[in-house]
Amino acid sequence: MEVLKSLFRTQSLRDLYQQEAQLVRCLNATDLTLLGIGAIVGAGIFVLTGIAAATAAGPGVILSYALAGLACTFCALAYAELASSIGGCGSAYGYAFVGLGELVAWIVGWMLLLEYCVASATVAIGWSGYVNNALAAMGVALPEALTNNLFEGGLVNLPAMAIIFFISLLLAMGARESVKVNRMIVIIKLTVIILFIIMAGAYFRPDENWRPFLPFGSIGVINGAALIFFAYIGFDAVSTAAEETLRPERNLPIGIIASLAICTLLYMLVAGVLTGAVNYSELNVSSPISYALLKLGYHWGSFIVAIGAIAGLTSTILVMQFGLSRVVLAMSRDGLFPAKLAELHPKTKAPTLIILSTGTLIALAAGFAPIHTVAQLTNIGTLTAFISVCVAVMVLRYKQPDLPRPFKTPYSPFIPVLGIILCLFLMFNLRVITWWGFLIWTVAGLIFYFSYSRKRSVLAP
Ligand code: ALA
Repeated sequence: MEVLKSLFRTQSLRDLYQQEAQLVRCLNATDLTLLGIGAIVGAGIFVLTGIAAATAAGPGVILSYALAGLACTFCALAYAELASSIGGCGSAYGYAFVGLGELVAWIVGWMLLLEYCVASATVAIGWSGYVNNALAAMGVALPEALTNNLFEGGLVNLPAMAIIFFISLLLAMGARESVKVNRMIVIIKLTVIILFIIMAGAYFRPDENWRPFLPFGSIGVINGAALIFFAYIGFDAVSTAAEETLRPERNLPIGIIASLAICTLLYMLVAGVLTGAVNYSELNVSSPISYALLKLGYHWGSFIVAIGAIAGLTSTILVMQFGLSRVVLAMSRDGLFPAKLAELHPKTKAPTLIILSTGTLIALAAGFAPIHTVAQLTNIGTLTAFISVCVAVMVLRYKQPDLPRPFKTPYSPFIPVLGIILCLFLMFNLRVITWWGFLIWTVAGLIFYFSYSRKRSVLAP
């Protein structure tokens, strides 16, 4: 009975706030919005839009983006409520600890690690591909043995490892420096996307290319949404900056919702213009945006898209690793990981030990592991965290009705329930092998929890 009770022990807000402080509050609403856009706009829009249009949704991919964006909006509203009322750098992990108890919180935290680690490694491999293509165009391509790991016929993916190390060093310099770099990169990638919309928009021919609009029917739109969901991952990372945010109760909801809204709009515009300018049947290529520009006669199109993609991928890795370090920091403060990890650098106030150790692990994965086969684990990890946040909103409304809520999810429980339904729906659209990976990761997490974390938790008697 005692054991069972311990699994559901919850953290009070007072415990949570007592652990806070130390990180430097320096981010405003604009910084958070740019962090969100930095995380969200990455490989997804540059790669998946074409594949989803050609193989699943046709021009209806624009509706796939709307549908996945809607699912994320429901979850973002739930995130905004808990980020403003509970806060803490643990994001969904911290909210689950207050609302749902230690075991659920552990599982959610463990899933966030999966999301951020696999996403960083996957995106670093994509980054390596783009950079090597750019080097090849300049006649200085790296040998295949150094850009592919053993599973792809080479030795090691060196550029992928290098970008992870570079980002880790940048993050170790502190949030202020990282946010400055993020700001610049986001401006570059947004410029590229807007340029694409203008250039391809000049060739927008819906009469030709949007007929039929739904060649695969409405089911195609749904399948397309499951495919492109990856493109939306990242807005949740904004909430991990809670302890570094000025006026978090106001700025966090703005950052989360504004970044998601801007990206949804941009994504729908890109999808609409792309399929309106080039027939969807031609878009099953690895770089549909640059393919479209070349086809429309913009010969330098692939050059600017390469710049946009490299910028996009860099900021995605940056914010994912930022989020990872903050979630591990929260879990270490709670004793679920070694407390030593929670020490901050005296000058930069960054969790240096966490940044460098997780950075090394991700770099090794990106350099040597068959990451592509497990890339979809990012989606399942994220969806689990989203569901937990929607559940926590409803549970906390019931358990702690008087909690101050500067931002309230509208139409609760309707919106959180819809969020849960849509996330489950997207989860069941993932491949069986992804579910196996999810199961193995969960079991590994439970073994770690019962053999280490439960006894060392700050809530343990
Ligand atoms: N949303 C991020 C991307 O598209 C993960 O790369």
